[in-house]
Amino acid sequence: MKFFVDTADVADIRELNDLGMVDGVTTNPSLILKSGRDILEVTKEICDIVSGPVSAEVVALKADEMIAEGRKLAKIAPNIAVKVPLTWDGLKTCKVLSGEGHMVNVTLCFSANQALLAAKAGATFISPFIGRLDDINLDGLDLIADIRTIYDNYGFETQILAASIRTANHVAQCAMIGADVMTAPPSVIKGLASHVLTDKGLDQFMKDWAKTGQKIL
Ligand code: G3P
Repeated sequence: MKFFVDTADVADIRELNDLGMVDGVTTNPSLILKSGRDILEVTKEICDIVSGPVSAEVVALKADEMIAEGRKLAKIAPNIAVKVPLTWDGLKTCKVLSGEGHMVNVTLCFSANQALLAAKAGATFISPFIGRLDDINLDGLDLIADIRTIYDNYGFETQILAASIRTANHVAQCAMIGADVMTAPPSVIKGLASHVLTDKGLDQFMKDWAKTGQKIL
């Protein structure tokens, strides 16, 4: 499973990228706001760090304007994936931009039928939001499994990009189900290294090592 990092924080991206943990980046208007940076400038900087797909989201709501925004975003770098919302106009935009050879990430997906439409419109990625379904007492992981089944049934090549990932369990379950990609904030990716028994075991090793009175260096 590929790891995308869901942030526009360049320092976090650089740190995770140096460790080989970044196969791509996803941003959205909320993350651009959080970064306090200009969208074109920060997206270019991210594309210079990461060689994989970098999602940059359009903000228009009508297809014509979305297409124009998408073309402008795609000019930032060859690894831009234009992100469009899962609306009828977003699907029209997806069809046009993917036909022009651009990568397109269709976002804000909350149902299997929406994912089916995105695949038929030629999406490179479909982004189902797991955490936001869990927030309303539905099961986001069930949606990932349903989309996996549907795409496999018909050989759709659209990649399932599990988004709105909040927990380590989301990550492991997405990998078990066979999501192609997951995108998560840097804190969630770093948190995957933590385990209470690792901490406990290390604490005991340190105590016993101190008792030996030895040094390695
Ligand atoms: O990738 C989508 C993500 O940015 C949304 O996450 O936690 O705001 O639902 P969240």
